[in-house]
Order: sequence, then structure tokens, then C-alpha cells
Amino acid sequence: MNKVSEYNQYLNYKNNKLFLENISLLHVATKFYTPLYCYSISQMEDNYRILKNSFKKIKPLICYALKANFNKEIIKTFSALGLGVDVVSSGELKKSLSNGFDKNKIVFSGVGKTTQEIEIAIKKKIKQINVESIEELEEINFLCKKLRRKINICLRVNPNIDAGTHEKISTGRSEDKFGIPDENIQGIFEKYKENKLINIIGLSIHIGSQIETLEPFKRAFKRIKGIILNLRAIGFKVSCLDLGGGVGIKYNEKNKIINIKSYAKLIEEIFSNLGLEIILEPGRYLVGSSGIIVSRVIRVKEGIDKNFTIIDAGMDNLIRPALYGAIHKIIPVKISKIKKDKPSDIVGPICETSDIFINKLKNHSFKKDDLVAILSTGAYSSCMASRYNLREKANEIFIKKEKINISNK
Ligand SMILES: Cc1ncc(COP(=O)(O)O)c(C=O)c1O
Repeated sequence: MNKVSEYNQYLNYKNNKLFLENISLLHVATKFYTPLYCYSISQMEDNYRILKNSFKKIKPLICYALKANFNKEIIKTFSALGLGVDVVSSGELKKSLSNGFDKNKIVFSGVGKTTQEIEIAIKKKIKQINVESIEELEEINFLCKKLRRKINICLRVNPNIDAGTHEKISTGRSEDKFGIPDENIQGIFEKYKENKLINIIGLSIHIGSQIETLEPFKRAFKRIKGIILNLRAIGFKVSCLDLGGGVGIKYNEKNKIINIKSYAKLIEEIFSNLGLEIILEPGRYLVGSSGIIVSRVIRVKEGIDKNFTIIDAGMDNLIRPALYGAIHKIIPVKISKIKKDKPSDIVGPICETSDIFINKLKNHSFKKDDLVAILSTGAYSSCMASRYNLREKANEIFIKKEKINISNK
């Protein structure tokens, strides 16, 4: 149990009770009810600093991928640290602007930007739009003419590379809906060469999420370097390269993680002598490890060859297990002597068989009213929550040292 700090540096047991930063989770579970999303602000800040300080030769613009968690507290934390932001809707764009992000550090990504969303992005004069298709670029051109405004564009390349991650979060294969096939990139540069409103400044790439080895990044980065060199060789100016996000985090004992220094080194080895502005769009890496869900055992139901530990957090709070078969480590909030019992599934209360967190947990038994912590839930958890089964929305608390801030927006 003493390895919990591998998941979050600010998570530790004191006298067998689990603390996040200086706050007892037993205490907050009573005060704010369960299920409860709890985040360590210090862990988020550390994640950012570790990434930033891993670069020795270049200074990338780190744009937080807001889709990972759009809570206002997180936006305020990262905008105060000077990060940029990667948004995928006008909702995210407006929320970023009203909570401190600099418009000159806003990148607008996404495969299905609507006409209204593009208009807003142009009018707000954001840093750039990352374009996902020729059709989208034509529409942006039309809107720029209508509004008499210019915009910076990066073309998102689909390099047809398998990120080796879960099928449902792979985005860089030709069968995926994202990006423009690399063979079409040069033609677009040529077509828009003389265009005074559409300023194609470079390329972007994002091949998937929760990537656990450097290999797919290496292949994708080399491919995009080749495209840049070709474009430059025939006279096009390519000044900006957005390398997307995708760095995975620790969810359980089995999954691998990338050493962040090696990731930075790889980027520097491939790109540092090209004089490019490099953008990164990490989402999960910045916030995933910072969050946990504290949940209470409703009851333990005895089964034939296993038990069912039914907890009050469900797929409405954390859909990743049901959606991607993700396994999040679950630990007790208070360590007590373990009684030998049958293995137990840890399940939520929702009326779906897929509402299960762990299949046949062995060597551990919980009882009614015990509290558990589901780890690594800072990203793609609360932001994907639903009101399925008409359950109440869970509270979200943000902890820094001994300070607690509740923020459900
Ligand atoms: C274009 C783009 N950038 C960045 C991200 C963030 O990815 P991650 O949270 O894996 O870092 C995503 C996630 O889907 C994305 O689509």
C-alpha cells in the first residue's frame, strides 16, 4: 500500500489513513459527501513543471488540452502559470478566455468545428486554428473573407500511424476521422500560397491518447519532420509545429509509462535544429494523476463464487472502465486488517453490467460504509460525467496543502 505515491506524489497514508496533500480523505468524505472528486493542485503544478523543465534546448508552448478536465479551478491554475490552451469547442474557448488564458496562446482543434464556432475563433483573434480537412479550410477562408479578418492555420496531418493504444483513443490511422492525409498537405500549401487571409504557418499532429511507449511518437515525429523538410525544400515557410498530446499516465500495476525526460529528449533530437515554434497539447499528463474519486461502499452482496462490492461511484462519474475497459487502481481510505474472503467485483450502482471497476479483486475485502479511493481520475472523468439514472452530480474539491476549494463549474 505504500506505493500510492507512484500514482500521485501527494497521496499518502498517515497512521493508516489516506491523505491528499494535508487533507484527510476520511474527513472530506463526510463533509462533502461521496462520490467525491478530489484533486491535488500541487500535483498538477508539478506535472507542468516537470514537463517544462525536461526541455533543455527548446521552449515549447505548452497548451493544456482542456477536454481532459474543464473545471474552472484547473483553468485558473494553468492560466496563472502562463500555459496556453488547446480547445475543441466554443464553450471551451469562451471559458478559457473568461478565466485568464491569453488569446495569443489559444489553439482551436477538433474535427467538427461548426460555422458559428469558427466565426467566434476568428473574431476573438486566437493564436491559430488547427484544421482537420480541406473542406474545413474552405469554410474558414469563406468566413475570413466575410469578416475581413486573417487567421493563422496549422494543418493537422494524419500520418497513418498506429499509436499502439486503445482502439477507441487512436487518432492517427488512415481509418480514423482525424487529420489530413500527408499526401494532400503540399497541395493545400500550394492552393493557399497567395491567400492574404489564410496564413498557413505549419503543421499539427496528434496520434492518440494514453500512449505508453516512445516508439509511436518517434515514428510520427520523423514522418512529420520529413513533410516539413519537403515543404521547405520547395520554398514554403513552415514556422510552427504542434505535436499534440497523448502521453500516458499510471492507472494500475500493469500499465507502462513513458519517461517524460526521454519524451522531451526525443522531441529535441528530432526538431531542435529546425528553428520551429513547438507546441505541445498535453491533457491527461497534466491532470490525470492529480485526481482521485472517494467513494463509499453501499453494501457487499454475496455471490456464488465471488462477491459484489457495490460502491456509490458509478460509470456516470467515471466512464473510462465501461468505455475503454480501463482499469483504475482502487485502494482503501483507511487500512484495516483484511479478513479472508471470496474475490469481489468492485461495481457501481448503475443499471448496466458494464458499470464495473474491477473484476474479482483478490486479497482484499471491503465492508459496508468503508471508503475507497479510485486513483488517476483527474482526466476524462468528471468532464465525461453524466446524469444517467438521474443521479446527483458529484462535488469536486481542489486541495493545496491544507486549503480546500469546492468548485463544481
Ligand atoms: C488534438 C488533440 N490534442 C491533445 C489531446 C490531449 O490528449 P491527451 O489527454 O492524451 O494528452 C487530444 C485528445 O484527444 C486531442 O485530440
